[in-house]
Formats: sequence, structure tokens, C-alpha cells
Amino acid sequence: METIITQSTRTAAQYIQQNELVAFPTETVYGLGANIFSESALKKIFIAKGRPSDNPLIVHIADLQQIELLAHNISEYARAFIAAFFPGALTLVLPKRKNISSIVSAGLPTIGIRMPHHPIAEKFLHECGVPIAAPSANLSGKPSPTTWQAVQYDLFGRISCILKGKQSRVGLESTVVDCTETTPLILRAGAITIDELRKIVPSIHFASKHAKANLKSPGTRYRHYSPRATIVIVDSLLDVKKENAGYIGLKEKSKTAAMQKICGSIEEYAHSLFAFFRACDQEGVSTIYCQRVDERGLGIAVMDRITRAATK
Ligand code: TXA
Ligand code: MG
Repeated sequence: METIITQSTRTAAQYIQQNELVAFPTETVYGLGANIFSESALKKIFIAKGRPSDNPLIVHIADLQQIELLAHNISEYARAFIAAFFPGALTLVLPKRKNISSIVSAGLPTIGIRMPHHPIAEKFLHECGVPIAAPSANLSGKPSPTTWQAVQYDLFGRISCILKGKQSRVGLESTVVDCTETTPLILRAGAITIDELRKIVPSIHFASKHAKANLKSPGTRYRHYSPRATIVIVDSLLDVKKENAGYIGLKEKSKTAAMQKICGSIEEYAHSLFAFFRACDQEGVSTIYCQRVDERGLGIAVMDRITRAATK
């Protein structure tokens, strides 16, 4: 298949209207989009990524009115999250309308909805004119792509179009919140922190401490975000043993690591993590050491991604 790389949102939207796949930039990571009303387009996502069909897709919208097309029985607290965080790096899981294909929801009665906060994504979604189902635009299991070149590396020849943008600002995926129970549950830690969410709905908590979490969040069952190199989590550089190594952390330059990224803040750590994994793979690094960070704020999402990447 020929893959067109373009900066034109109009060209990209035309591929969507022809029920083809388009990778597009967002503030979190690049997405791989398909027309939500075309089952043939939706099926192509799972083939292009090698994604298990029981892992549901997030639907991306350009304006708030599209929510009513996709979901119903929206609770008061879900509406409060929408008012506070749309557009932004938050995905809400809501009761799905029956007419929306179960390919999107992987058979669940719910649907994940997000409104990206990114000028190119917003223009593209407007021009598509329909909600766009989009997982991250990587091969299944690989780190999410934060640049169009990373999308090209994984999916060139497998999709019709890549819409070019800059490196994703946030660098980690959205926070996924289940809004189908009496109180909200965080299914996936992400760019919006629990402290920010708690200001809107104080009763929110992490689902991982609850038995239902795995049933509610199919994505958490799979191996994720893994570069070819082995990931080792360390407290400090003193624990770095190998020479053909990469190192990413908040402090201390290494004398031995071939590739290193010292980040000035937790935001920079999140922004750089997946791009660093991919850069290390291209250099043939065999072990990537990731410095542990405090599990608060954005540190919760960073530790979640590093821990999953380290799980073989
Ligand atoms: O930032 C993001 O969320 C990016 C950009 C492209 O928007 N998208 C993304 O999609 O990370 P993906 O498919 O890689 O991850 C979606 C996660 C998965 O863990 C999936 O299981 C969960 O969201 N999810 C989607 N719909 C769901 C639903 N109805 N119920 C529970 N979890 C759902
Ligand atoms: Mg993904």
C-alpha cells in the first residue's frame, strides 16, 4: 500500500471519507484514525497495528455536540469533567449508544471519548465531519509514537496517510476515566493527574485497587510500550552496570551510558520517554535504565509506562 505523507488536513480528511486510515498528531501521542461509521475502516485499524480485537478504541471528536451521537445517560459528574477538561488529555468512558459499532468498543456496552487539544488535530477532525476512532499509531506492543517519523517507522506501507505535525507536547497518552458507575474510576493514569481530577470530583480513585479494573480496562491486560532493549528501573546512576546502555532520568549524567537523556522536570521526562526508547532501539542499545520518580502528579503515569515496558 502507498502511504502519503502530508501537511494538508483536507487531503488527510479525504482519505477518512474514503474509509482509509490516517495517522494524525495530537497533544498526547499520534493517533491512527478511521471513520467511526465505517466497519470496514474500523477493521483496518486492527490489521494495520496487529491489535487484539478485544481492546476497544477511543473516539476523537471535534465539538461537544458529537458526544450525544456516541453516548447516552451521561452522569452529572461526567458532564463536570467535560466542562473542565474538554478539549484536553482526558478520555471518558461513557454508556455507548447501540447504533455505534461494537468493533469500536470491542463488545463492551461503553465508549471512550476524547477531544484533543491540538490545532492540527482539531482542524483535521472538523474537516472529517464524523467522529474518528483512533488508537495510538504504533504497532501493537511498541512505544506510542510522539513524532510523525515514529509513525512512519512502524506503519509505512500499512496505512494510506500520515498527517504531519510536530513532536507531541505531552508525550504520554490521555488519562482514561470510567464514568459509568456512581463514582469515577481512573482506568489508565495519564497526562491529566488525579489531583487535577479530584478538584472537580473529589470521590475519584484509581481502579487498579479494585477487582473490576481488568474487566473494565482491556488495554491494561497487554504488554505495552516496549522497545527492543531491556528496560531496567533504577534509583540512581550507581545502579547502571552496562556500557552499551541508555539512561533516562531527572539527574546525574552517566560516564558510561552511550545514550542519555537528563530531564529538567517530570514534564520533560514524560515528553521524552517514548522518543528516547525509539532512539535507543535505532542505536542498537541493549539495556535502557530508567530512573524511578516519585509516584505523584505526572510521576504516576511515567512510572506506569516504565513499569509496563519493563514487564516481559
Ligand atoms: O492519548 C491517547 O489516549 C491516544 C491519542 C491518540 O488519543 N490514544 C490512545 O489509544 O492511547 P490506545 O488505543 O492506544 O489506548 C486506549 C486505551 C486502552 O487501554 C483501551 O483499553 C482503553 O483506552 N479504552 C478505550 N475504550 C474503552 C472502553 N470503552 N472501556 C474501557 N477502556 C477503554
Ligand atoms: Mg496504544
